[in-house]
Amino acid sequence: MKIGIGADHNAFQMKEEIKSYITSLGHEVVDYGCYSEDEVDYPGVAFKVATDITANQLERGILFCGTGIGMSIAANKVPGIRSAQCHDVYSAERAQLSNNAQIMTIGARVIGVELSKKVVSAYLSVTFQGGNSARKIDQIMDQEKEYLLNGSCS
Ligand code: RB5
Repeated sequence: MKIGIGADHNAFQMKEEIKSYITSLGHEVVDYGCYSEDEVDYPGVAFKVATDITANQLERGILFCGTGIGMSIAANKVPGIRSAQCHDVYSAERAQLSNNAQIMTIGARVIGVELSKKVVSAYLSVTFQGGNSARKIDQIMDQEKEYLLNGSCS
């Protein structure tokens, strides 16, 4: 798969290590920065990766910040995006199987590199299962569309 990755300065080192790891799994990686430990605001990185997913330039995104929270909140502001913060293997699998999350976020201050590799591997190893989960995802995306069209939700 073509995977976009990105980080803020707090997670630069983890992003570098996971970039190599994802490549070793046979995926193509596009690196959206940051490219050093100089301070970078995470929303801009999240918006670029999320926007390229909605433009079908990427199949998935994996974003890193100190907690994984800011990146996930920012990515979820891009219409069409479902981003999930995951720090364990089960959640990472379910984020894709049940939630069809195109983006997963990880906090570099929360888990270490070795666990993050297992979390990333779990996320990339499965594909959305559809079925009853599709109905629930449709409900979420319909809500988003209604808000975008009408400025409010029923
Ligand atoms: C640290 O600034 C931290 O807030 C940031 O890296 C990220 O975790 C935000 O959610």
